[in-house]
Amino acid sequence: MKTEILKLLKESDGYLSGQELCGRFGVSRTAIWKAIRQLEEEGYQIEAVRNKGYHFIGSCDIMTKTEIKSCIKGKFGRDVEYHEVIDSTNIRARRLAEEGASSGTLVVSDCQSAGRGRRGRAWVSPSGKNIFMSLILRPDILPASASMITLVAALAVYDGIKNVTGLDTGIKWPNDIVANGKKLCGILTEMSAELEGIHYVVVGIGINVNMEEFAEEVSQMATSLLLETGEKVRRSRLVAAIMEAFEQYYEEFISQGDLSGLISVYNKHMVNTGKEVRILDRSGDYTGVALGINEKGELLVEVQPGEVKHVISGEVSV
Ligand code: BTN
Repeated sequence: MKTEILKLLKESDGYLSGQELCGRFGVSRTAIWKAIRQLEEEGYQIEAVRNKGYHFIGSCDIMTKTEIKSCIKGKFGRDVEYHEVIDSTNIRARRLAEEGASSGTLVVSDCQSAGRGRRGRAWVSPSGKNIFMSLILRPDILPASASMITLVAALAVYDGIKNVTGLDTGIKWPNDIVANGKKLCGILTEMSAELEGIHYVVVGIGINVNMEEFAEEVSQMATSLLLETGEKVRRSRLVAAIMEAFEQYYEEFISQGDLSGLISVYNKHMVNTGKEVRILDRSGDYTGVALGINEKGELLVEVQPGEVKHVISGEVSV
C-alpha cells in the first residue's frame, strides 16, 4: 500500500484527501496516516493540510524498494529485490534465477562487498553513491546469441542517462558507457546454458552516479554523472529509466533474433565509429579503423583498405 500511495501522490498535481485514499485502499484514516509517516521517515517530503489532504513535495536521492518500485513503469524491475549491502548483485541474481525467479526480476544494492568486473577484476562499490544492479532474463535464443544482450544493455543505459540527466554519453564497444573518454558504467553479463538453450542470463550494471572524487590511480579513467553534469542524480529514477529503455530494446532484439533493428542507433552512440582502434587479441594485438557493428554485435574493423575483420570479443583501446 505504501508504494501505491507514493505512486498516487507523485502522479497527483494537487492534494489527495485522506478520505479518497481510505476509499481506494479500504483502510482507516489511521492506516493511511501511518503509511505517510513511514514515507516521511524514509526521506519523502509530504505536506499534510487540514481539509485538503496530502501533497507530494519531493525527495532526495532515496534508494529503497518502495522508491524503486514507485518509479518503475513496465515489466522490467517490477519484481525488485533491494539490499543495503550484498556481496554482488550478480551472485544474488544468479541464485534467484536458479530458484526460479522470472525474467525481468531485478536485484539492486546500495553497496557491494565483493563487486565483480569483467575479466576477473573487482568493481569498487561504496555505499550511498552509485548504482549496482542485476537483471535476470530468460531469452529463448541460442547461447551463441547471448553476448548481443550486453550491447542491448549498453543502449538502455545510454538512453536512461540521457533521459534523466540530459547527458549525451558514448558507448565504447561492446558495452562500456563513457563520457569525455572516461568510464561511467560497466556491464557484466553472465549466463547459465546448455548447448541447445539458455537457462538464464544475468546482466549486471554498475554506474558511477554521485561519486564526488576517485582515487588518484583511477581518476584518469573513471568519472561519474555528478562530475560530468555538476548535479546529483536520483538513483531510483535512473534505475527505472534504464529498465524502461531496456524493455523496449530487448523486445526489438528478441523479435528480430539479432541486432539488425538496433545497428544504426548503436553505431550512432558508439564512440569508436570511424576512429582508429587497437584490438587486444590473444593471438596478437592489431590496429584498424572501426566501421561499426553488424547484426551480431561484432565490431567491424578495417585493418587495410578493403580488408575488414569481425571482432567477436576482446578489449578495444581507443
Ligand atoms: C566491467 O568490468 O566493466 C563490468 C562491471 C560490472 C559491475 C556490476 S555492479 C552490479 C553487478 N554486480 C557485480 O558484481 N558486477 C556487476
